[in-house]
Amino acid sequence: MSQADLIWMNGELVAFEDAKVHVLTHALHYGTGVFEGIRSYETPDGNAAIFRHDDHIDRLFNSARLYYMEIPFSKEELRAATHELLTRNNLKSCYIRPLVYRGAGPMGLFPLDCPVDVSIAVWQWGSYLGDEGKQNGVRGKVSSWRRIPASALIPAAKATGQYLNSVLAKIEAEKAGYEEGILLDERGMVCEGTGENLFVVKNGKIATPGFANDILGGINRLSAMEIARDLGYELVERDVSRGELYLADEVFMTGTAAELTPLRELDDHPIGEGRPGPVTRAIQDVFEDALHGRSERYAHWLDVVLPRAERSSPLRSAPAPAS
Ligand SMILES: Cc1ncc(COP(=O)(O)O)c(C=O)c1O
Repeated sequence: MSQADLIWMNGELVAFEDAKVHVLTHALHYGTGVFEGIRSYETPDGNAAIFRHDDHIDRLFNSARLYYMEIPFSKEELRAATHELLTRNNLKSCYIRPLVYRGAGPMGLFPLDCPVDVSIAVWQWGSYLGDEGKQNGVRGKVSSWRRIPASALIPAAKATGQYLNSVLAKIEAEKAGYEEGILLDERGMVCEGTGENLFVVKNGKIATPGFANDILGGINRLSAMEIARDLGYELVERDVSRGELYLADEVFMTGTAAELTPLRELDDHPIGEGRPGPVTRAIQDVFEDALHGRSERYAHWLDVVLPRAERSSPLRSAPAPAS
C-alpha cells in the first residue's frame, strides 16, 4: 500500500498527516460506520476510470440508511469529490475508500445525536489476494466462524462494525496457513469469503449463494454474473453446500479488493485439477478487460475521470486548486 498526499474529509482536502479524528469518535467505540471499497483503473487512452462508481455510491447510501445515518452530501457531490481527489493526488489506478461514520458526540449506544462525518481516502493497492493468487488460485479454509446472520445484523449493509466477523475469519485462515477463509451461513450453507463473493462451477454450470445466504451483495458479483450469462453459461443463485465446493470443477471469488481470484484448494482438497479452470478463465478474461477499459460492451460500467476543466459538477467546500 502506498499512501496518497491528500484525503477528503467533510468537504475539505487535507494533507495525509492531518487526516485525524477525535478519540471519542462514536464509530471507534461502537463500529457505527459504513463504507465502500472501490477501484479505479487506468484505461488504454490514459484516463482514470472508476469501476461501477454509481453502484458503489448507491450501496453506500443504502448502508447508511440502514443504520439511520443521513449523509450530509449528495451522491453527485461525493462522486465529484472522488474525481477531484484522484486528480489532485495524480492517481489513476488506485483503491478508493469512502467512509461515513458517527463522529465525536454523546457517548452511549444511542448514536443519533452524533454528527455524521464523511471521508474519502485513496491509495495504490495491488490485488488483495496477490497477482500470483489471481493467476494460479489461492488456498482457502472453511472458517469455524459463521457469517453474521440477518437475525442479528444486516449482512447486506457494508458497515464497519460488521467486519469484526470477517476479521476473525481472516486471522484464523492466515494463522492456519491459508490465504482466505470461507464463511458458511447460520444454516451451514456456503456464504462467501472474508471480502469476496463466491461462485462454484460444476459440469459447465455456475451457482452462487444469494441474499438468503446472508451475503453482502457484491458489485463485482453482479458483473461476474452478467459476464457469465453473456458468455452463455447457465448461472443460478441458490444454496451451495460445503461438499459441493470440495467436489466442484472450479470455484472462484469476486470482490473489489481481490478482483476475480480462483480458489485452487479448499481444506486441503484440490478443486478440480488444482488450478484455475476454463470457465473461471473465460469470465476472468472478460472481467479484466471490463475493469481496465478494454471492453466496449461493458464500457458503461466505467466512470471516467475527466480533466477538471471538462467537469460539470460543482464541488461544495473544496479548496481551490494548488497553483
Ligand atoms: C464481506 C464481503 N463480501 C463480498 C464483497 C464483495 O463486494 P464487491 O464486489 O462489491 O467489492 C466484499 C467487498 O466489498 C465484502 O467485504
